[in-house]
Amino acid sequence: MSGLVETDIVTLSRFILAEQSKVPGASGEFTLLLNSLQFAFKSIAYNIRRATLINLMGLAGASNSTGDDQKKLDVIGDEIFINAMRASKNVKVVVSEEQEDPILFSGNGRYCVVCDPIDGSSNLDAGVSVGTIFGIYRVKEGSEGTVDDVLRPGTEMVAAGYTMYGASANLVLTTGSGVNGFTLDNSLGEFILTHPNMKIPNKRSIYSVNEGNSQYWDEKTRGYFESLKFPKDGSKPYSARYIGSMVADVHRTLLYGGMFAYPADSKSKNGKLRILYEGFPMAFLMEQAGGLATDGKRRMMEIVPTTIHQRTPVWLGSKGEIEKAMEALK
Ligand code: AHG
Ligand code: MN
Ligand code: MN
Ligand code: MN
Repeated sequence: MSGLVETDIVTLSRFILAEQSKVPGASGEFTLLLNSLQFAFKSIAYNIRRATLINLMGLAGASNSTGDDQKKLDVIGDEIFINAMRASKNVKVVVSEEQEDPILFSGNGRYCVVCDPIDGSSNLDAGVSVGTIFGIYRVKEGSEGTVDDVLRPGTEMVAAGYTMYGASANLVLTTGSGVNGFTLDNSLGEFILTHPNMKIPNKRSIYSVNEGNSQYWDEKTRGYFESLKFPKDGSKPYSARYIGSMVADVHRTLLYGGMFAYPADSKSKNGKLRILYEGFPMAFLMEQAGGLATDGKRRMMEIVPTTIHQRTPVWLGSKGEIEKAMEALK
């Protein structure tokens, strides 16, 4: 080994092949699916980077089934993602934030993918980090691929993650045995393993919530955040950090520790975030990194969704911080 340059780079494809060998009986199908996923991330990253140059910013002039105004990049990201999943020949069902109904593909794919093509899109025009969030289920034994294959608890997901389009494109992924982070090397066109075996710190005095909703919170929610800002035990108040893109707020929480919440409130009794393609993937990552994720009362991953755009309150982050929050909400 010359030691002059890194000559044994671990790419995402190589990492997944190594992972695959740990899963008895796993075929190369999953590796192929992840290759299609990473193409989608690269293509979305490319379009986001040049959006300002070719007037891709701004509204598309339509809204989606959860009532969000769609940005042009929401629509473009959605099309890129769906086309990549169709081309993979490995996918039977796709659920997207931007599609009213599930998309069913023919063929004998063995996977279902739920996704938020562009998370944080309201921040896009301001140049704030946005991302793509995804979760993967295997098609149930004997199923031809229907909506029932995705109306399942997060505990049945086989993989999940996000790609955040910040200064670089960061892919954070779990396949159920820990969390690993990859950074897109634009010149190689490869995601490179840069954050092996990510673990969230058990405690950190950072809270991340939209305080503009405070007047709509219930008493216990308000009391919990007040206790962080005006600690009764004389300890230092917590720092507030809120970007407004879930991917960016969760990425910071995973790296630094702390807690992120989008609580239920009197305006929306199930909060704003959607369980399938925002809640579950982030909850899966948090648990795999040693953190916790609840809906304010119970473990989020055990919830069984009944509709594909169902919302859930989200409380996630460091184990010590979420335990403290759940105590306050009792
Ligand atoms: P999306 O852009 O995919 O619709 O998601 C937006 C979400 C999430 O990214 C973020 O945590 C939350 O909206 C912010 O909502 P507020 O602006 O109400 O705080
Ligand atoms: Mn949206
Ligand atoms: Mn989102
Ligand atoms: Mn979105």
